[in-house]
Amino acid sequence: MSALFEPLTLRGLTLKNRLVVSPMCQYSAQDGFANDWHLVHLGSRAVGGASLLIQEATAVSPEGRITPEDLGIWKDEHIDFQLRINQFIEAQGSVPGVQLAHAGRKASTYTSWLGQGHGAVPEAEGGWPVVAPSAIKFSDDYPLPVALDAAGIKKVIADFRSATERSLAAGFKVIEIHAAHGYLLHEFLSPLSNQRTDTYGGSFENRIRLLLEVVAAVRQALPPDFPLFVRISATDWTEGGWTADESVQLSSWLRERGVDLVDCSTGGNVADAKIPVGPGYQVEFAERIRREAGIATGAVGLITTPAEAEEIVASGQADLVLLAREELRDPYFPLRAAHELGADVTWPVQYERAKPRK
Ligand SMILES: Cc1cc2nc3c(=O)[nH]c(=O)nc-3n(C[C@H](O)[C@H](O)[C@H](O)COP(=O)(O)O)c2cc1C
Repeated sequence: MSALFEPLTLRGLTLKNRLVVSPMCQYSAQDGFANDWHLVHLGSRAVGGASLLIQEATAVSPEGRITPEDLGIWKDEHIDFQLRINQFIEAQGSVPGVQLAHAGRKASTYTSWLGQGHGAVPEAEGGWPVVAPSAIKFSDDYPLPVALDAAGIKKVIADFRSATERSLAAGFKVIEIHAAHGYLLHEFLSPLSNQRTDTYGGSFENRIRLLLEVVAAVRQALPPDFPLFVRISATDWTEGGWTADESVQLSSWLRERGVDLVDCSTGGNVADAKIPVGPGYQVEFAERIRREAGIATGAVGLITTPAEAEEIVASGQADLVLLAREELRDPYFPLRAAHELGADVTWPVQYERAKPRK
């Protein structure tokens, strides 16, 4: 019996297995609109058997985009094409999820393959002023942010709420709030990027305030049976930064506030952090948060084989395994993993003749 191919129920939603496509920016949108690329990219991975696909960081406001080519859900016109993609995903027996995001001080940068490296996009070329908890750059080639004032903070919360309402209209069945990788909500969590002296900075309670307010606004807009995830960077891997202990405390408060799963990544808020990258190097955070905060977790990061994914779920280190680059290499990873692990899963009828027989 494979633990990886056991279903998981979160509130009113049942996922058919534990393999999830991790959110991956495609930098292929115009004015936030999804297009055929997103349909084929997400659609192929639904055909490949993942139980849940979390769509890339999708901006809650135009200024919350990492690059001008990011997907967005800040206006009603974005809904129609998203709905088309999501209906296709559901028709394959997979679940469409969305990662709602605001890039904070890492916004308004170039898409790498458009030839300008990772630098700031000037306003003359379609860039925009960026915001953050404090006026501290991520690194020299990133834009200098303006510290959000009280009205700016209110707008961020309202934008997450409106994006949630549009996500429901677009047929998404899971919402993940992006509070990782050095983007706006993570910037508030970490003392390295948050040096505010008001109620949003300083103490742990103050630094997590914005995330808790966003969670409350999003949860309020969701039906009671709708699962809500939060992705965090469980550590900044840097002295004086956000810590794993704080992640455990935060996760337990998130659980009390109606979050169903913490997706445990790390890093991204410090340009020169020394990260001990290796197979499954972030799984320990998913394991610890699951055990100590009593909340379901997702493990992500250099998980590349069916055996590794199986072990993570079977040993109770995490409830879900998220794959990013391995799913780019092989959209059919879940179908292959099922065969290797001896689980009998349904293949798309169109592909049935290719299904390996015992
Ligand atoms: C092309 C690409 C785009 C990514 N975009 C996002 C994103 O939009 N949101 C996010 O939280 N992580 C993003 N990530 C990080 C992945 O979700 C994942 O956490 C990371 O790649 C580690 O998993 P892996 O070793 O399976 O690739 C991206 C990664 C890649 C390779």
